[in-house]
Amino acid sequence: MTEPTASPRPGSDCSGSDRPGTARLAGVIRRDGPQLLDLVANTRIAGDVFSLVLRRPETAPAPQPGTFLDLLPVIPAQSGGAPVLRRPLSIADCSADGRDLTVILRVVGAGSAALAGQPVGSQIDVLGPLGHGFDLDAVPAGGRALLVGGGVGVPPLYLLARRLVERGVQVQMRLGFRDAGDLFLIEEFARLGEVLISTDDGSAGARGTVADLAGDPRALAFTPDGVFACGPLPMLRHVQAAFGTVVCTQLSLEERMACGVGACYACVVTDAADRDHQHRICWDGPVFRAEEVVL
Ligand SMILES: Cc1cc2nc3c(=O)[nH]c(=O)nc-3n(C[C@H](O)[C@H](O)[C@H](O)COP(=O)(O)OP(=O)(O)OC[C@H]3O[C@@H](n4cnc5c(N)ncnc54)[C@H](O)[C@@H]3O)c2cc1C
Ligand code: FES
Repeated sequence: MTEPTASPRPGSDCSGSDRPGTARLAGVIRRDGPQLLDLVANTRIAGDVFSLVLRRPETAPAPQPGTFLDLLPVIPAQSGGAPVLRRPLSIADCSADGRDLTVILRVVGAGSAALAGQPVGSQIDVLGPLGHGFDLDAVPAGGRALLVGGGVGVPPLYLLARRLVERGVQVQMRLGFRDAGDLFLIEEFARLGEVLISTDDGSAGARGTVADLAGDPRALAFTPDGVFACGPLPMLRHVQAAFGTVVCTQLSLEERMACGVGACYACVVTDAADRDHQHRICWDGPVFRAEEVVL
């Protein structure tokens, strides 16, 4: 991605939309308490990546794209045993009646391994949906949204893309993975819009990161009205620099968390306007406007 040279467009600070900060101040976000949810599907969808579908007991409001669930893994005694902290996972999809919530997780340690090993028919202790998600009003019907994701930052972009397309927004996805064996959700994304892929080793799509997709003719031809991103910090920094002063840009931060509900300040990010102020990512985010935070 090369940095756009255009002047800031009206609304580049997301001021025309219902800003995430507005919702925070209004306190309108619903946060559910812990509950045991049935695991109704557990499928390996790539090398070490699993898709888990959790069923809520009854019809429920659809979660906002970008919000997350905090799942309590049960770690076997031979692997260290309980107690452990919950593990935050973005909501990747939701059924029409709001009951079934899909999370997609990569096994990186004991917690994610325990969750990936849970059998269908068992129950998982779940807190959430939690946090403030993406503001879809940032891009009007008929507009264009660019969705940029890397690795385990890709899952929340799927529910986001679905919701944007339902609202009449054209979407382009730029997705980065480690290698060809690591790809997931590609066909599903392709049904919603144009998908550009990069892999670290070049085994699928362009070699490099999503930043290296900027020279692709399809990227050059796509001028977004809003940008939504989730992924590793270097990727978010690049998106912030490339688009943050040009167009309304929202970043979802996947920092390590402890309590997940704003109580412990384990997951903070510095406010751009007041360096003495820290936002709690789990409570005030995980989605922030690009100009709102120092990465
Ligand atoms: C809001 C949010 C949404 C997330 N959504 C997803 C998702 O949809 N899918 C998914 O696979 N993961 C997601 N994650 C990351 C996921 O929570 C961690 O990978 C998981 O908690 C690791 O637990 P573990 O016990 O397996 O690994 P641990 O043993 O705790 O850690 C294993 C390794 O992973 C690193 N690590 C752990 N957590 C993070 C993190 N948050 N960021 C960077 N490195 C980390 C550790 O430093 C260590 O090197 C999300 C995190 C947040 C905060
Ligand atoms: S994890 Fe405790 S405040 Fe965010």
